[in-house]
Amino acid sequence: MSVSRQIKALTPPDIAAQKGQAPIVCLTAYTTPMAQQLDEHCDVVLVGDSVGMVMHGLPSTLEVTLDMMVMHGKAVRRGLQKALLVVDMPFGSYEESPQQAFKNAAHLMRETGCAAVKLEGGVHMAGTIEFLVARGIPVMAHIGLTPQGVNGFGGYKVQGRGAAADKLRADAKAVAAAGAFAVVLEKVPAELAEDITKAISIPSIGIGASAACDGQILVVDDMLGIFTQFKPKFVKRYAQLGELTGDAVKAYAEEVRTRAFPEPQHTFKS
Ligand code: KIV
Repeated sequence: MSVSRQIKALTPPDIAAQKGQAPIVCLTAYTTPMAQQLDEHCDVVLVGDSVGMVMHGLPSTLEVTLDMMVMHGKAVRRGLQKALLVVDMPFGSYEESPQQAFKNAAHLMRETGCAAVKLEGGVHMAGTIEFLVARGIPVMAHIGLTPQGVNGFGGYKVQGRGAAADKLRADAKAVAAAGAFAVVLEKVPAELAEDITKAISIPSIGIGASAACDGQILVVDDMLGIFTQFKPKFVKRYAQLGELTGDAVKAYAEEVRTRAFPEPQHTFKS
């Protein structure tokens, strides 16, 4: 009889309980092999709608569809045992009504096996978050620079400077009161992110925010140096895998052209 080791997956309440404890480690992933690499080290793996820009060459996240999120969500699910899987709700899949949001969030959960969804918006999405949470759909909120709103913001600008700080504080309080289990704070001044973190009862997950947040998230292809079209200030590169890939492909091309590859150990005897 074989004994298989059952690893307990983290749940949204586990992540909520990490408020004020050890920082919560989050990264995005879009494929099974990447999810397998991340699982041991991350608390949360997000299938972000950044997949559109990072993996599909789209100019923004606005063209990402529910089907794309399902496909990548399924792939990431297969690579995870321990980390909490969260899948982004793409633009146009939740803003119309709480009912529309429920239908599409339930579809994402059913198809991908994710335990939670993420959606963008503060005060104006609080009713929808409450509706979803009351019906068994854990929600991670996302406020500050919400990339799906890039056209309204006039670019990927820092949010919450000056008088806009109060709006962001209100957004954070609204999503926490609505029952979100965590909230992403993107591209907000560090002091404000720290204030908000202290003022709310749920974990704040920073990206371009502050080390004082309850956790951090980055797009994995950014921090590995795979996606190099542009580099936001908040990205720290922990590796240069794009350069390594280029070097490896160049070496392969040279060896094919000089017939140095394949060598005898790569071929078969008759
Ligand atoms: O889409 C995404 O990857 C995200 C994270 C960067 C927070 O929303």
